Amino acid sequence: MHSSFLPIMHFLLVVVLITPAHNTVDNNPSHPISLDDDPSLFPGHLEPLGSKQPKKDIEVLTAYPSPQEYFLKYIRPGRPFLLKGGAKYQKAYKVWNDDYFMSFEAAKYENVQVEPNKKEIREAQGFVTSFKDFVQRYGKEKIYMVNKVPSFLQKDVMMPPPLRCKNTRNLMLDHVTWMSSGGTKSVLHQDDLDNINCLFRGEKDLLFINPIKYGSKVPIDRPKGGYSSLDVDKVNFTKFPSLREVEYINCHMEEGDCLFIPRGWYHQVNSKANAQNQNIAVNIWFRHNPRHMPEDCNLPEDEASLNHYYFPGMESLHIRDDGDGGKEDDDDDEDETEEEGDEEHSMLKLMMWSLTQTKYGRASFKTFTSLLKRIPNFVSDEDISHVELDENFLNVARMVFNKLNVDGNKFINGDDFKKIYQNTDQVDEIEIFVSAQMRNLQLIAASLLHQQPKPDPSMDEPPNTATRDEAPQINDEKQSAKDEL
Ligand SMILES: *[C@@H]1O[C@H](CO)[C@@H](O)[C@H](O)[C@H]1NC(C)=O
Repeated sequence: MHSSFLPIMHFLLVVVLITPAHNTVDNNPSHPISLDDDPSLFPGHLEPLGSKQPKKDIEVLTAYPSPQEYFLKYIRPGRPFLLKGGAKYQKAYKVWNDDYFMSFEAAKYENVQVEPNKKEIREAQGFVTSFKDFVQRYGKEKIYMVNKVPSFLQKDVMMPPPLRCKNTRNLMLDHVTWMSSGGTKSVLHQDDLDNINCLFRGEKDLLFINPIKYGSKVPIDRPKGGYSSLDVDKVNFTKFPSLREVEYINCHMEEGDCLFIPRGWYHQVNSKANAQNQNIAVNIWFRHNPRHMPEDCNLPEDEASLNHYYFPGMESLHIRDDGDGGKEDDDDDEDETEEEGDEEHSMLKLMMWSLTQTKYGRASFKTFTSLLKRIPNFVSDEDISHVELDENFLNVARMVFNKLNVDGNKFINGDDFKKIYQNTDQVDEIEIFVSAQMRNLQLIAASLLHQQPKPDPSMDEPPNTATRDEAPQINDEKQSAKDEL
């Protein structure tokens, strides 16, 4: 009896052992793998991004919000939505196909920028060819056009209704056509701009990560900002353990849908072709201005196509323009190279300079958070001195503080920066880390500002009250942040 059982037991044991860890976890939620375990055992290790992580669905609308509602309810707090069928009234949706594209004489002469891969490689060198040449090739080759809407097609693409206001025009920055035969995959990235993307052909699946809740867990490790080196097909949790803690928002776009991607939201985009082997989307990027209130919104329909608008282009912001959507960059980069030596280390220098605003040229954590609040443009271009910082903000600020406090004592001071700059291998990594976390702090500050109404202006302190110096208190954690400066 016993002896005949043994081989079966042995077999079962082997099955259990070779069953991938995530299956055991999925089937057995009472024994979840904890974050303390080996990250390579965690569900989803070496699998596509987010495949085993919790997901919620994006908010779906069936009609555009009014311009005012759009800016107040969606742009200001940063709230993505999918607008079902939002592009179906457009001419681009109705008539765009290869024959139509080829019918324009100008297709021969207008050049477009093409990426030589469908899976995005930010460093890859694209090429330029005529739109006609691209249309003849994109069904057969692994190429991806990422370019302004060709001029002769701009009349077919409409400004989304909530953006059709007179004073909204000057927020407009750029528009891009994303065209391929499907199967494209972007890196995980964020943009510093608000974005409406309409899909005219094919399908798209996007994963979003809320930067306010999970920004500090997203491994943004590439210079020039805003994207992660992680392989979106095979997420390595040993290398990026914090990604295990992220929750995703899922968005499935069908032909004719439009999507709002708020500034700062991490996203990863996958496209699929339609039956005609096409995937075509157009997006509009516009600058984020939390104070914007749209006015004069009765533009006639026949003046609302893209050819009636002026788009200064990414270059106008010194923004690198190279990917499927990750365009933003806080740093200037005149020569567009990816060389780390060209980095300006601007955020680190700003941090170092901020110490000069304290009495002893040093900052405890409490002083550091006061600096973050009080130095204009550090985390907000608005006055946030009245804003009560939440746990989320303080956690991210603590990460930055700890990163800068290389000698691990109570203060960040000149010695820390000396050490940071002595170790040239480390400078870039710290700069990237600090810049990415500062972007997260900016987004969190904006959301706090949105949630916490401003005090009565008559009660306001004069703006930019000169920051006073840090008191020589050892026990300064007890002091209010205000008193410290
Ligand atoms: C995952 O990342 C770790 C740490 O960087 C590395 O040692 C390991 O080889 C990676 N695994 C795979 C399969 O790439």
